Amino acid sequence: MAYKKKLIEVALPLQAISKEAAREKSIRHGHPSTLHLYWARRPLAAARAVLWASLVDDPSAHPDRFPTEEDQSEERRRLFGILTELVKWKNTNNAELLATAQEEIVRSCNGELPQILDPFCGGGTIPLEAQRLGLPAYGGDLNPVAVLISKAMVEIPPRFGGMEPVNPEAGQSMAVGSWDGSRGLAEDIRFYGQWMRDRAFERIGNLYPKAQTPDGGQETVIAWIWARTVRSPDPAWDGHVPLVSSWVLRNRSNKPVVWVQPIVDHTTGTVTYQIREGGKPLAGTVKNAEGTCIATGATIPNTYIKQEGRTGRLGQHLMAVVCEGPRGRSYLPPESVPQIDVGRPECGPNGKLDGKAADQMPLYGFTHWRHLFTDRQLVALNTFSDLLVEVRSPIERDAEKAAIQGHNRPLRESGTGAVAYVDAIVTYLAFVIDRCAARWSHCLPWNTRAETVEHVFGRQAIAMVWDYPEANPFSFSTGNWLGQLTWVAKVVENLPAQGFGEVLQQDARARLSSVPNPVVTTDPPYYDNICYADISDFFYVWLRRSLRSIWPDELSTLATPKTEELIASAYRHENKSAANQFFESGMRRVLEEAALVQDPGFPVSIFYAFKQAETKKGETVSTGWETFLQALNDARLTIVRTWPMRTERTAGLRILASTLASSIVIVCRPRMADAPLATRGELLAALRAELPSALRLLRDQAIAPVDMAQSMIGPGMAVFSRYSRVLEADGTAMPVRQALALINQILEETLSEEETEFDYETRWALTWYQQNGSKTGPYGDAETLSKAKNTAVSSVVRAGIATSAAGKVQLVPRSDLDPKWDPRSDPSPKVWQVTQHLLARLERSETEAADLLRQAGSGMGDRARQLAYLLYQTADRQGWAQERIVYNMLVTVWPTIADLASRPAPGQTSLLEA
Ligand SMILES: C[S@@+](CC[C@H](N)C(=O)[O-])C[C@H]1O[C@@H](n2cnc3c(N)ncnc32)[C@H](O)[C@@H]1O
Repeated sequence: MAYKKKLIEVALPLQAISKEAAREKSIRHGHPSTLHLYWARRPLAAARAVLWASLVDDPSAHPDRFPTEEDQSEERRRLFGILTELVKWKNTNNAELLATAQEEIVRSCNGELPQILDPFCGGGTIPLEAQRLGLPAYGGDLNPVAVLISKAMVEIPPRFGGMEPVNPEAGQSMAVGSWDGSRGLAEDIRFYGQWMRDRAFERIGNLYPKAQTPDGGQETVIAWIWARTVRSPDPAWDGHVPLVSSWVLRNRSNKPVVWVQPIVDHTTGTVTYQIREGGKPLAGTVKNAEGTCIATGATIPNTYIKQEGRTGRLGQHLMAVVCEGPRGRSYLPPESVPQIDVGRPECGPNGKLDGKAADQMPLYGFTHWRHLFTDRQLVALNTFSDLLVEVRSPIERDAEKAAIQGHNRPLRESGTGAVAYVDAIVTYLAFVIDRCAARWSHCLPWNTRAETVEHVFGRQAIAMVWDYPEANPFSFSTGNWLGQLTWVAKVVENLPAQGFGEVLQQDARARLSSVPNPVVTTDPPYYDNICYADISDFFYVWLRRSLRSIWPDELSTLATPKTEELIASAYRHENKSAANQFFESGMRRVLEEAALVQDPGFPVSIFYAFKQAETKKGETVSTGWETFLQALNDARLTIVRTWPMRTERTAGLRILASTLASSIVIVCRPRMADAPLATRGELLAALRAELPSALRLLRDQAIAPVDMAQSMIGPGMAVFSRYSRVLEADGTAMPVRQALALINQILEETLSEEETEFDYETRWALTWYQQNGSKTGPYGDAETLSKAKNTAVSSVVRAGIATSAAGKVQLVPRSDLDPKWDPRSDPSPKVWQVTQHLLARLERSETEAADLLRQAGSGMGDRARQLAYLLYQTADRQGWAQERIVYNMLVTVWPTIADLASRPAPGQTSLLEA
């Protein structure tokens, strides 16, 4: 069946998307991911781009309107313009731009909007972005925590979009009529969250006494800093000693270091703590989980610490308190605050840590969820959780007074009236409790640079921490209740709150068959990268306590469902290989279902978490990757494109652009029922016929050299997977692994054939570079090579490409190039020269490089860019990291310098235009 090609099947402004996706990671307040912690969240920019480009037609689908390649390129440039703006964080709620983006979708879909489905929706990024683009958004996930987060993003807000807040003080905070979107809802979350804080303070505020300052004043404590302790195994010391990984409290570049000095008194047999400013902090007493007795220097083996922990004999010492005073943070010694004994609370989440969540803490005796909190933390969390029941009454009363229109059914029964509104606010307030739980636990460190409490999930596990902060819920600083409330309200305020959204707790296969004709866009789990269910129980146990009456189905089980979870967890299977087998066969079945239900008018798009560690010397040897491609192929999905996307934040965007992408978007189409068979020879012929033009197209989009191999898999696999099977000479079906090798081989062939398009001196330099890099080589070798390349050493020397002296030949280093070289005054400039001069100038500025490009002309410029791809390949193969970055960068910034070059230099006419 013929179908209209979508933009994502032909071209994408990859760099613009990756840049925004990576930038987004540094955006904090108001970003949807801060509503509630969840793992492996995709950047909004990436999800938005993939969705939009999967729905908008590629110009080649309309030969009537865009008959020539040039017309098509121009139209693509227009679409790229929209997409480049659309992915920017600042445009997330730009109504005008979103309307333009939606118009394009509507036009490409003949007015009928498709339904987007993500059956592994996690924190809800894909459904959220679908909704933002005006599309019906369906999500599903097995994990109830993910489901509740996604519901809170796309299902709940539209029900109350544009509604005024109901709280009695709302009229005072904003002019009536300006409650568009979810602003009213957010305002009420703030108000009733404050109500809870006030009640909680009345009940337990006394557990957080102020500190006495040395000048006799009082300051609010932000955090108590504790050290775990253990009885010293050395009989020479009768008592507990601190286990501390670092004594440092503040470590800021512009301020003196603040640290704790432990004082050991051998006469009284006690350890006390003093605060020091400046000087050199002592080394901690725990390293690699092994301790040292601070009193005697004896080793405290890790096995001993664990054993003491398991018998409930670990203790804690208060080392310091952090206060908020008129002059900012101050650090005071423990005796500045009274000792508080709250007693062990009766209640608290009683479940046991399981699987990945249990890989550390139970070894030290912390076997149950409630063990991850100090007594006072448990009291606080219980108090706020209890208040969630009580806060219903004032919201109910106010909502009734406000006479909300709508079906007065609970939220879970699609209610839109007062009862549902109460359920909605309570759900968001439960998220505030979860945000607090992640900060009110003893499994997190004090951040000495930011002077803040961290949260439990610095990594995708729950780790043992030796010295930890205990935040004050009632301060106005790090880790307090109101701070967490603000984060939640801020996200809600910015949600689209319009259109349709439905998220269900279902296994992916079941969810796929529950939505008619969906367009599947998804981000599935990847082997054992993250054990979602195990670690999300940390939140589940609190959500269950707080919200069970509102979401009884989602929160019916004692813990999150584990057995159907599609991950390769060694904790749940006999061994690693059984776990992999479970994951792979389950994923294959999901993909088969996706191929069956997919709306045939659109491609399936899948985010794949590519493991860099599995790539050696630029060659893809990832078995996970191959298995996934094989599964897609077996599921009768034809792979059309593979787009590498950088979604992680790294040191700098230029460095980022030269590292291998960590995710790949795979674009597929269900394979036609009558797909033909092919032989190996036929496959090779088709690859040879189609890959060169695909390579050119990718290069025209300035795909970075580092991305080329991954990007070429798409067009290559498109050829391979269009056949029902490719038969080897012995009649067996060719596996994906073999197809990938052939694609790589043809790519190499294509690239080396292109070599013939360069001048002889450049060809000489290319081979010399491959053999010697920037080092010198014997004259004899240079001479032999020059004969093979139909030139002479004297010619390459005359062209300023190499130097020859004392029987040695060397390529001219870029630093030695004449900065004033003008290709127009050179009777026969060589591609090599232009490329190297461009790089040398790029070191100085993009404008200088653009000037040279203008002088060289566009034809020579194209060749130079082509050469940069080849040189990148060589540098990559040889492991020359710096060179690799340089060539990658030239291609990455090419659109910018080409754009600058196309503008006439002051007082000149552009050669590119001429
Ligand atoms: C990579 S995450 C999705 C992250 C999401 N794209 C985001 O941006 O937040 C994969 C999700 O698949 C879910 N999952 C695992 N097994 C599943 C199954 N059998 N059915 C449905 N969902 C499943 C996990 O709970 C997890 O939330």
